[in-house]
Amino acid sequence: MRVLHVAAEMFPFVKTGGLADVVAALPAAQRAAGLDARVVLPGYPAILDALRRSRKVHDGGALFGAARVTLRQGVLADSELPVYVIDAPYLYSREGGPYQDAAGREWRDNLQRFALLGWYGSHLAAGDADTRWQPQLLHCHDWHAALACTMLRLHPPRSSRTVFTVHNLAYQGRFDLGDFPLLGLPARCLDGLDGIEFHGQLSFMKAGLVDADVISTVSPTYAREITTAEFGCGLEGVLRSRADDLHGILNGVDPAVWNPATDPHIVSRYDAAHLDDKAPCKAFIQQQMGLSVRSDAPLFAVVSRLSQQKGLDLLLEALPALLAAGGQLVLLGSGDAALEGAFREAARAHPTAVGVQVGYDEAMAHRFIAGADVILLPSRFEPCGLTQLYGLRYGTLPLVRRVGGLADTVDASTGFSFDAADATSLRGAVQHAVAAWRDRPRWLSMQQTAMERDHSWSAAAAAYTELYRSCSLKG
Ligand code: ADP
Ligand code: GLC
Repeated sequence: MRVLHVAAEMFPFVKTGGLADVVAALPAAQRAAGLDARVVLPGYPAILDALRRSRKVHDGGALFGAARVTLRQGVLADSELPVYVIDAPYLYSREGGPYQDAAGREWRDNLQRFALLGWYGSHLAAGDADTRWQPQLLHCHDWHAALACTMLRLHPPRSSRTVFTVHNLAYQGRFDLGDFPLLGLPARCLDGLDGIEFHGQLSFMKAGLVDADVISTVSPTYAREITTAEFGCGLEGVLRSRADDLHGILNGVDPAVWNPATDPHIVSRYDAAHLDDKAPCKAFIQQQMGLSVRSDAPLFAVVSRLSQQKGLDLLLEALPALLAAGGQLVLLGSGDAALEGAFREAARAHPTAVGVQVGYDEAMAHRFIAGADVILLPSRFEPCGLTQLYGLRYGTLPLVRRVGGLADTVDASTGFSFDAADATSLRGAVQHAVAAWRDRPRWLSMQQTAMERDHSWSAAAAAYTELYRSCSLKG
């Protein structure tokens, strides 16, 4: 089966979160399973720099405000995964992130930048952007890719089916209604329950939800949650109307990147049979972050975007209890300035027990996850979450709020969880974790159970293949 993924980021070249990890690992797992999976990506500088063995496959001319757009096909450095890269310097060639400038402001032309991504997704699917290859299945990820589903619907006859995967409903790609003419879509796409208008704005997310043949999200629990007002971000009605087409498939772990037995970033490698070799990873992190190097203090870690989603304000409230129970905390993250400041302040107040590194650092993320005893995710909502899966694999037991993918991947034999999004519940779970950690045989057995859990991508890839088959059979 030929599958084209349409996405705005891909590890290790461009990454703001778990989406990038998925877009790197899922197509690779699909190829290993015999599918012909490819990816189309915007030509940001980091992607163009990594592009190898490329040929021009399409000349798009002037599109979405860019004077000259071309499509190249090749592979990215150290990868054999075929990729299509949209070369549009006016839209993509700039310093800063994929969605924001270096100061954290959204790019003003994100509507055009991601309309172009959707345009190429749909034209590749329709067979007129690469005459040598046409996907049977177009797999669009998050709002950035959603317009491909809408645009493909306008291209009869349709030989490709579309799957739209929601990685995070909170980011919707909403733009001024007055910019609709910039999309080049017929007026009928705008209005009505299945139009892309949403509460007086354009919503790319809604376009994907109404126009894809099938919708998926990244855990079964989140698939249920987003049909409710509490988690639906206003789109719960749209999602309920498509309940029969909404599926939840858990993400996996890429063993080439996250494996404590081979990880090049950590000071001591280990596996489930040699957990003593994890101890130097802990001492290293304690020392690196200026904490007292104590094997008798349970070390909690956070590796996260600092956003409202992640519930880290609850952790600030619960921190005195964590410290009173004898615990230490290390945090690696960036985002919300107030949270960054508050965690820095906590580190200043407790220099031997709290260590904070503000920023994004791939190698340190591996060292934190290998070195800690517990990885914390007190999220308000969590579509899937990858860091708890990395924690399981590294014998670093997750402490999570029981929502979304966290509820589906962590149980009492592999970690700790709490229900209410408040500091009291988090405190209770922290105390529970500390008590379990002090019971060495129990802890060791939990670590071994966690490390043996299978969260490989092959299971997820097989579930997606089933989903693709089901939507190919649909009318
Ligand atoms: P989300 O996509 O909501 O941020 P996930 O748990 O799915 O959450 O994925 C987060 C990914 O980003 C993981 O690969 C995690 O290791 C990584 N990550 C998050 N914050 C940082 C950071 N400050 N430095 C390095 N990696 C980070
Ligand atoms: C989103 C979600 C996260 C999920 C990731 C990859 O960023 O916040 O829970 O793991 O996408 O699917």
